[in-house]
Amino acid sequence: MRVLSGVQPTGKLHIGNYFGAIRQFVELQRDAGNDCYYFVADLHAITTIKDGNELRANAFMVAADFIALGLDPARSVLYRQSDVPEVTELAWMLSTVTPMGLLQRGHSYKDKVARGITPNHGLFAYPVLMAADILIVRADRVPVGKDQKQHLEMTRDMAAAFNQTYGDELLRVPEELILPEVAVVPGVDGQKMSKSYGNTLEIFAPEGELKKRVMSIVTDSTPVAEPKPTRGNTLYALLKVFTPPGEWPETKMMFTEGGTGYGDIKKRLLARILETFGEARARREQLERDHGYVENVLRDGAGRAREVISRVMADCRKACGLGWV
Ligand code: ADP
Ligand code: TRP
Repeated sequence: MRVLSGVQPTGKLHIGNYFGAIRQFVELQRDAGNDCYYFVADLHAITTIKDGNELRANAFMVAADFIALGLDPARSVLYRQSDVPEVTELAWMLSTVTPMGLLQRGHSYKDKVARGITPNHGLFAYPVLMAADILIVRADRVPVGKDQKQHLEMTRDMAAAFNQTYGDELLRVPEELILPEVAVVPGVDGQKMSKSYGNTLEIFAPEGELKKRVMSIVTDSTPVAEPKPTRGNTLYALLKVFTPPGEWPETKMMFTEGGTGYGDIKKRLLARILETFGEARARREQLERDHGYVENVLRDGAGRAREVISRVMADCRKACGLGWV
C-alpha cells in the first residue's frame, strides 16, 4: 500500500498535530507492507507566508521535527515539495480537467474569503496542487485530519476526470485515512488547539516556556478540597491524551476525589508531556546542530520520490501529447 501525506510549514508543530497526524504517519511506516511518502508542503505555504527566509526556516524546522518525532528516512521517503517541481506540472495538467464549480465549492477557500482574506489564484487552486501531490506517486491512502476530507473528495474527482479524458489506468484514485478515535486536542484556552488561534503547546518549546504555557491553561475556580468537573475541562482532556490507559484510573481520581489543586494537576500534565516527548526533544536538539543531516535526508528523499514520479509523469505527458515520443 502506498501512503502519502504532507504538512504545511506555517508554524511550529504542536501536540494537536502530533496526536492528530504525525503519530499516525509514524505508525504507518512501521508496517513493512507500506511504502510511505511524507513531505513538507512549502509550495502550499507560499499562499500565505510571503517572507522567503521565514518559509525556508519553517520548512527546515518541520523536516527536523518529522525526523525527531520518529519518521525514519530508512523506512519512509521524506522530502520537501519544492524539490519535486513535477508536482506543479501535474497540477497544471489537472487544472485543465477541473471544473471551476468544483473549486468554488471548496470549504477552505470559502472560509478564507468569508474571513475577509483577498483570495489569490494560488489559494483558489490549492486543492489542485494537493491532488497533484497525491496522484503523482499513485498513492492508495492519505492519512489526514477531518478538515482535509473535502480535499480528498476533490482529488478523486480530478483523478477520475483525468482518467476519463486520457486513459483508465493513468492515475490511481486514492482514499483518505481519517482516524475516528483521534479526539480534537484542545488548546490552553479550551478551543481546538491551532497555530492560528495562538493557543498551542509546542512539542519542542524550551522547558521553561512549556511550563509557562501549561500553567496558563484556563481552569475554573473549584476549591482544592472539592472534586473537579470533568466535562468541558481542558486540563482533564489534555491529561487523558497523555496518560496510558492502565494509569488513567489513578490520574482521573485527581479530579473526581477532591483534595488535589489545579496547580498540582498542571504539574502532572507537564511531567507527562516531557516524558512523552523526552526522546524526541533530545533528538530535535541534536538535529538543530546538524542542519547538514536534515538537508541530506530531504535531498535524498526528493531523489527517491522523483524516481517514482518520473515514470508517472512520462505516462501522463505521453497521454496528453506533450513532448516527443
Ligand atoms: P493548525 O490548525 O495548527 O494550523 P494544521 O491545519 O496545519 O494545524 O494541521 C496539520 C495536521 O494536524 C492535520 O492533519 C490536522 O488534522 C491535525 N491537527 C491540527 N490541530 C489538531 C488538534 N487540535 N487536534 C487533533 N489534530 C489536529
Ligand atoms: N492541505 C494539507 C493541510 O493543510 C497539507 C497537504 C498538502 C497535504 N498536500 C497534501 C496533505 C497532500 C495530504 C496530502 O493539512
